[in-house]
Amino acid sequence: MTDPYPDIEEETEGSAEGLRTFRLIAILAIALVAGIALLAWLGGGGHRDQQPAGYPDALGGPFELTAPDGSTVTDKTLAGKPFAIFFGFTRCPDVCPTTLSRLAQLRKRMGADGDRFAIVFVSVDPGHDTPQDVGRYVGLFGTPIIGLTGTAGQLAQIVKAYRVYYRKVPVEGGDYTIDHTAGVYLMDRAGKLQSVIEYDEGADVSLAKLKRLAGR
Ligand code: NI
Repeated sequence: MTDPYPDIEEETEGSAEGLRTFRLIAILAIALVAGIALLAWLGGGGHRDQQPAGYPDALGGPFELTAPDGSTVTDKTLAGKPFAIFFGFTRCPDVCPTTLSRLAQLRKRMGADGDRFAIVFVSVDPGHDTPQDVGRYVGLFGTPIIGLTGTAGQLAQIVKAYRVYYRKVPVEGGDYTIDHTAGVYLMDRAGKLQSVIEYDEGADVSLAKLKRLAGR
């Protein structure tokens, strides 16, 4: 193999020594990361409370929102049953309808086990979506979905608790669209993050995560 940095090694003895040390540390770091990844993969089945990589342990927590019928729904309302929670807005042209359609399809594939978790959609667009709008919207997907929204203050609380990213983006004509987190958070019956369905993953991967959420 040719050395990509021949000039560097021709420098003084000290810096060549430094470079060797650096390479050794880099190799050890890569080996360590690969080893941890392998252990996590091998041990995945046995560590059911393990947090998905890249997501904080403390995701989730108390919130208070409004259902389409005007009733208040909190974290305590949902407690005791696992739930898949997703944040978006009813005018979303792609990510929201695609994600909710996929969840509905996957739940259908699970048969009776699909009833072992709730699906929750939270609109982060109170400037446009009333609780009634959210109710009509979630009714389009052919499966029970709890549609929620709230005041700006209530949404700020849940968005912070779930580390959701969203940002209003102005479009031509004075209107706006919303960029938002595309992952679906899978919360266990205690309201603790179990896994995340990523937007770009395959259906079978998502299905396996939902089966685990359902305790199957
Ligand atoms: Ni969306």
